[in-house]
Amino acid sequence: SGKPGTAGLSFGPISPVPADVDALTVPDGFTWQPIIRWGDPLFSRTPAFDLAGQTPEAQAEQFGYNSDYLDIVADPSGKTGVLVNNHEYVNPNIMFPASTDAAELRRRGDIYKAAQGMSVVDIRRSKVGQPWSYVVDGRRNRRITVETVFELTGPAAGSDLVKTAADPEGRWVHGTLGNCSGGTTPWGTILSGEENFNGYFAWAADTAEQKRYSATSTTSTSTGWEAYDPRFDAHNPGYVNEPNRFGYIVEIDPQDPTSTPRKHTAMGRFKHEGANVHVAADGRVVAYMGDDERNDYLYKFVSKNRISGSRKKNLNLLSEGDLYVAKFTGNSPLAEITGTGALPSDGAFDGTGVWIPLTQGGQSVVPGFSTEQVLVYTRLAADAVGATKMDRPEDVQPSPVTGKVYVALTNNSKRTAVDETNPVTGNRYGHVVELTETAGHSGTTFGWSILLLCGDPATFENAYFAGFPKELVSPISCPDNVAFDSEGNLWISTDGAPSTIGLADGLFKVPLAGSERGHVQQFLAVPREAETCGPVIHDREGLVFVAVQHPGEDGTFDAQHSLFPDYGSGAPGDVPNAPRPAVIQAYRA
Ligand code: FEO
Ligand code: CA
Ligand code: CA
Ligand code: CA
Repeated sequence: SGKPGTAGLSFGPISPVPADVDALTVPDGFTWQPIIRWGDPLFSRTPAFDLAGQTPEAQAEQFGYNSDYLDIVADPSGKTGVLVNNHEYVNPNIMFPASTDAAELRRRGDIYKAAQGMSVVDIRRSKVGQPWSYVVDGRRNRRITVETVFELTGPAAGSDLVKTAADPEGRWVHGTLGNCSGGTTPWGTILSGEENFNGYFAWAADTAEQKRYSATSTTSTSTGWEAYDPRFDAHNPGYVNEPNRFGYIVEIDPQDPTSTPRKHTAMGRFKHEGANVHVAADGRVVAYMGDDERNDYLYKFVSKNRISGSRKKNLNLLSEGDLYVAKFTGNSPLAEITGTGALPSDGAFDGTGVWIPLTQGGQSVVPGFSTEQVLVYTRLAADAVGATKMDRPEDVQPSPVTGKVYVALTNNSKRTAVDETNPVTGNRYGHVVELTETAGHSGTTFGWSILLLCGDPATFENAYFAGFPKELVSPISCPDNVAFDSEGNLWISTDGAPSTIGLADGLFKVPLAGSERGHVQQFLAVPREAETCGPVIHDREGLVFVAVQHPGEDGTFDAQHSLFPDYGSGAPGDVPNAPRPAVIQAYRA
């Protein structure tokens, strides 16, 4: 078909789904199935999922919990490939019955360590265009957990800020935490953002540096690791720096299950949502990154070296380069910006901006900050140069078709002083900014405009869809992850619709060109209390993939709110009576 974005994937938008529906809803003519679920074994030696019989050893070889970033990377044959997925965190209240037994809680703590991190899983199918199945004992199958050894790279590796009693060199970190979104590089590695790492540490918010990453002091955490693993107790003098070893972009090579994953200090430390790489015209690679916190910043990293035909050299591109933070300027007088989202008199929320360098030639250019301080205490360095406070930057991704960069700003209850880039007081529904690099992707100037002001247009009069008629769009709230199809249409997955517009979260397609620009159309909705993550759009094959995160999260073990995706009874011989976060694929029935 010649319609925009419909190559193999023409669909009629679904009707909005109420937030309490425990079903995955796809368009008429489509069906879905899980590829892999929490607890599915990666190896033939691994026990099958057993809700009542979970062990740390089994979980370390089973698919992890709370899937977020996803990619489905086909090999050249198109009949084999690899699935990579992040496991952001765990929901103890629906994984286990309540307990106060110290030994049992410690045992569960080790299960939580094994359930988080990442999974790499071989996939296969009999014919190109068919749905995929995962491969038990696949050559590339691998779990990365909170005990897997990572190498720190870049200027802050080996510095005093990242040394601990267990790692006096400051170069080797056990594990990755809070892995949220990510990106796949042109050289075939997977990037992942360490986001809410602070919640795993008991720590004292004593110094300005500690406070900027976690406002309050804590003595205990939901995983309880600090009770028996000293590195999670940052009050312990040997481990005050352990939190400084999280909050990075990590890079893993899914093709080599023996490779050591890395954390790139040159890309800065904050609550990284993810990173998406674009190759600039000059051959340097540029990674766009959001810091997901209310009133935090948008960043980019520009590599020192150029991409080449050597995969081995490309594997080091993100270890050396410069870090920038965005400052936006509007072109409409502030008096015209109402603070509720109404358009200014020039008809657009738009303007220009600059990328302010935090390092140049790999060295700090922030007065009063050493290079190591810029890269470990990046938020404070960005504060010092006057970056623009944003409404929670989540995924930031360049279009592979136009090179324009799309910034998902999910919401911001703390938005008081509005500006033209963040124009909605108490921004409940979030918005999406379209950014155009005006000096190339490695340059320092850009133009921008707001593409979408999200919300339900029936109840939020200032909702805006790039000028497309509001009465024709699907209601959308709290944009989180973004992706593109082969024609350059933007796809947005959401996290927060239930509490803001009373609807289930979902996945939406938005054409960016022509008369359909801004026509938001809902493709799927996720089950009760779930968030839609990791969209992958293989439109030429008619396949759409998402990760369904935290289904039924507000339930308890004895009163589960979701039974996705198996909808079993829990009776002997039947499937477990509990939700299982999972990666699903939707396709034409
Ligand atoms: Fe884990 Fe910013 O979402
Ligand atoms: Ca304007
Ligand atoms: Ca996210
Ligand atoms: Ca989110």
